[in-house]
Amino acid sequence: MTQHTPNLKAQKISGGVHTDQRHDSAHKHVAGEAVYIDDMPEPAGTLHVGLGLSNVAHGTLKSVDLSAVRAAPGVVDVLTHADVPGDNDISPSGMHDDPVLAQGKVQFHGQPIFAVVAETREQARRAARLAKVEYDELPAVISIWDLDTEKDKQVTTPLTLNRGDAAAAIAAAPRRIKGRMKLGGQDHFYLEGQVSLAVPGEDDEVTVYCSTQGPSETQHLVSHVLGVPSHAVTVEVRRMGGGFGGKETQANQCAALAAIAAKKHKRAVKVRLDRDEDMTATGKRHDFAIDYEVGFDDEGNILGVDYMFALNAGFSADLSGPVGDRALFHCDNAYFYPNVHAKSAPLYTNTVSNTAFRGFGGPQGMVGAERVIDEVAFAVGKDSLEIRKLNFYDQIGTPGERNLTPYHQKVEDCIIQRIVAELEESAQYARRRREIAAFNANSRFIKRGLALTPVKFGISFTKTESNQAGALVHVYADGSVHMNHGGTEMGQGLHLKVAQVVAEEFQIDLERVKITATTTAKVPNTAPTAASSGADLNGMAAQDAARQIRKRLTDFAADKYQVPVDQVVFLPNRVRVGNQEISFNDLVKQAYLNRIQLSAAGHYKTPKIHWDRAKGRGHAFYYYAYGAACAEVSVDVLTGEYVVERADILHDTGRSLNRAIDIGQVEGGFIQGMGWLTTEELWWDGKGRLRTHAPSTYKIPLASDRPKIFNVALTDWSEAYEPTIHRSKAVGEPPLPHGMAVLHALSDAVASVAEHKICPRLDAPATPERVLMAIERLRAEAAQAQ
Ligand code: MTE
Ligand code: HPA
Repeated sequence: MTQHTPNLKAQKISGGVHTDQRHDSAHKHVAGEAVYIDDMPEPAGTLHVGLGLSNVAHGTLKSVDLSAVRAAPGVVDVLTHADVPGDNDISPSGMHDDPVLAQGKVQFHGQPIFAVVAETREQARRAARLAKVEYDELPAVISIWDLDTEKDKQVTTPLTLNRGDAAAAIAAAPRRIKGRMKLGGQDHFYLEGQVSLAVPGEDDEVTVYCSTQGPSETQHLVSHVLGVPSHAVTVEVRRMGGGFGGKETQANQCAALAAIAAKKHKRAVKVRLDRDEDMTATGKRHDFAIDYEVGFDDEGNILGVDYMFALNAGFSADLSGPVGDRALFHCDNAYFYPNVHAKSAPLYTNTVSNTAFRGFGGPQGMVGAERVIDEVAFAVGKDSLEIRKLNFYDQIGTPGERNLTPYHQKVEDCIIQRIVAELEESAQYARRRREIAAFNANSRFIKRGLALTPVKFGISFTKTESNQAGALVHVYADGSVHMNHGGTEMGQGLHLKVAQVVAEEFQIDLERVKITATTTAKVPNTAPTAASSGADLNGMAAQDAARQIRKRLTDFAADKYQVPVDQVVFLPNRVRVGNQEISFNDLVKQAYLNRIQLSAAGHYKTPKIHWDRAKGRGHAFYYYAYGAACAEVSVDVLTGEYVVERADILHDTGRSLNRAIDIGQVEGGFIQGMGWLTTEELWWDGKGRLRTHAPSTYKIPLASDRPKIFNVALTDWSEAYEPTIHRSKAVGEPPLPHGMAVLHALSDAVASVAEHKICPRLDAPATPERVLMAIERLRAEAAQAQ
């Protein structure tokens, strides 16, 4: 014990909350030292799996002759649905429509029918090609474009949102427009593909190292296919090489196959898909057909709007129901609709089963909203930014009526006005608008375009039970801390943020908090790391655990040194007890010697939220995250090729836990959103074969595609309206729709070829081909109008 003498040098811990910290694994990522599942040392005798995929999009399996496969060198076994010891189903929605291996029929081109287990991966893959499979082909539905949203098959019940009387408002409005937009899907293109390594244990036990965003769900489904209780299955993930939603449910197939084979052969088994297989056999962002009708006045005020969001679910439900719901939840983006009717239609097709992807339908909903804004702006002849501002929800603190969402939640925290005003100023929108008009007037072949688009994104899972988290914190007798929670790390910096929270609670330097792999054996029944809620939920759960231990330490110190508990104060790396100080390590050591429990499990559940899907009403989101982006593009009107000249983003992460990480998330989200809406085109041929299943044909943004000028800033004045973890806001998904600014800037450039008189109705992805076709179409329409 030392007398209390303030040490001015150590007034703050290093690495607490609200400080910029580099990603804990950044150096390992770039040095190739971060351990992904395929980097783990393989147990002796590990077997490898190769998949046999369907060659047709829809059909019954007439015969499956696997004799040549079984006879191939190195092959140990060939698994079919008959080898699944429990239930041959990994449906995450409980619809029982997602077989591990096809049984009797195939429903998309690329569906796994059998799995070859061999000594090496190469042998398994080569052998898989030797199968003789005969099909009775059935008619296949490949696209939703021509489907009937009322009559054609849907994978799950659609959602309807209703407020006011949209039909009457549209009918009575001075002006009306109806239209349709085609919006493409997106491949996750994580750098690490789907991979699982299963290691069998005693009796019914198995441990699966799986690149999954949802270890508890993977555990549950592995136990389901094995026919054993969840307690027999442990799922562990240290990190993923990207997930982006693609490993929320779709990691389960590899995990299930690895586990089945491992238990059957009592050897470790690895399943790792290569890029082509991964793109062919696993689900993607849903493509949508968006029908809209809007009624508005001559100023551009929206009076009523009606939407139909048809989405391509693929062959099974997966998460398509909730994805369609989130599209509807975001069909308002940042705008108040006085009257609204919106409906989803998750349609069955014979393609891969589409799934979660960063934003989870939200971005698709917003794209619909922004198309409607564009239509109104062209109709009334105003800059679309003016129409946007005219229709925003009421600002926080404004006593108004314009704050009810289509799902009857009151928007209480709207800060979009201030964000847009600040971005307009910093991006010099008005000046550049004039300069671009002057440039275009004098430039024949290169046209520039500019757009500023807002984002309002709802934070919470709409599935109420998913809004909970658990954590486990141990303080060892030497004062070092082991931190574990239910969230998974996929590059987004979640573990770092949660470690910062724990360091803050104990007032110890960040380096003393050990980040550990997520495992179902330490924290049970966790939600997938999704819906941007990782830090919000797990940060709170870890804080709860740390506070329990801190309280025990406080009580112990107060008792031992006979001071009131309020005289035990945690200072940076030390504790003041009365008028003396003791190092954190010493206090912990003493507590241990006095048999104080130094481990705690924490838990958190989001308050306030509720959602009644049947009624389409509720407080679906705890709060909203806001932001806006301004993009400028140059388009070559002879080829449709374009470059993004500049992008400015102002984004709200509340009182950010770590601005360095958050800026990375905003940059990455914007680029990923831009890729989705511009160059990333998924193309299925008439036979339902995905023809863009590798980087040679599927173009994600490259470093050279980034905006030439790229200014990303976070608001430095906002804080979460609700008591979130240290008043920070979720950041994982909300920045992705900032990519809309690029789509609208392209639309603006295209519109310039017809004097901004015709709405280009640019579909997405706005590939150079589509941009060129839009230019040609506008020119033809303008010529006809003359
Ligand atoms: N960032 C990186 N680097 N890699 C990812 O896979 N996934 C995104 C986002 N940012 C992702 C990412 C998605 S889809 C989500 S839901 C959030 O991170 C999840 O993490 P969080 O809830 O901890 O923000
Ligand atoms: N994003 C948003 N909402 C969700 C998700 C997601 O990934 N998963 C379930 N609800």
